[in-house]
Amino acid sequence: MTPSFYKQLSESARDVYDRWHDRLEVDAESSAPWHLLIKSRIDPIRDIDGKRILEIGCGRGGFSFWLATRTPSPAQVVGADFSSKAVNKARQFAENRGVSNISWSVADIQALNQFGGGEFDTVVSCETIEHVPDPPLAVKQLARVLKPGGRLFLTTPNYFSTTGVYRAYCWVRGKKYDECGQPICQLTMLHKTRRWVRRAGLRIVESDSRGQYIPFPRRPPIEARFLEHPRFLMRWFGLHSFVLAEKPVG
Ligand SMILES: C[S@@+](CC[C@H](N)C(=O)[O-])C[C@H]1O[C@@H](n2cnc3c(N)ncnc32)[C@H](O)[C@@H]1O
Repeated sequence: MTPSFYKQLSESARDVYDRWHDRLEVDAESSAPWHLLIKSRIDPIRDIDGKRILEIGCGRGGFSFWLATRTPSPAQVVGADFSSKAVNKARQFAENRGVSNISWSVADIQALNQFGGGEFDTVVSCETIEHVPDPPLAVKQLARVLKPGGRLFLTTPNYFSTTGVYRAYCWVRGKKYDECGQPICQLTMLHKTRRWVRRAGLRIVESDSRGQYIPFPRRPPIEARFLEHPRFLMRWFGLHSFVLAEKPVG
């Protein structure tokens, strides 16, 4: 695909997201499965306390807010999203609660030009790379803005899972699979995400996935917790995948 095709695709996606964020509230608890995956791994001292953090694809800002209000020496958080509606909602939410250590920015994860190389101690991106035309390029950008020794917390769906089987079923039946009306839904898989992260020059510290669902047409999926075990095997087949990676020093 050509760069101008990508640009067009991104612009129409931006309009869809502006309308999407307009309808939704801020998730102040940040209790989605992918947020819990990060919360259980992030080290408050190493990754948050007094650190400069970028959350890209922050949506309406709930998780940036969580990061900014965690530690005694507040982190300097940049919450960024390419939907200006989302960013405005996030800014308003933080201002109403008197939180001033977050700066908000409109940015495309595939072209983080407003940020310098090695600018952030910690980079977070939840459920965003699957919604852009070029996920490997997005991962390269995350690696570029990370400081040597800094850590990336990345989540994205793993369609090497029962939900992937459902996606294949939709494809065979000629039905569009989308995630709540989002315009681009790449077929991301944990092993592919790990490859993109390694190719971007980062060292994988840990990866995991959670969430076993039995999908039904026209009905919400049922969560099948018994399928979470044994962990050494099933950690490759959960829908919600997580990669923690570090930028090598030198
Ligand atoms: C599924 S939502 C996830 C939001 C939030 N991270 C969360 O965990 O709830 C996907 C987010 O990616 C944003 N987004 C989509 N394409 C983007 C792009 N090219 N650059 C930056 N953000 C993008 C959307 O506006 C939306 O906020």
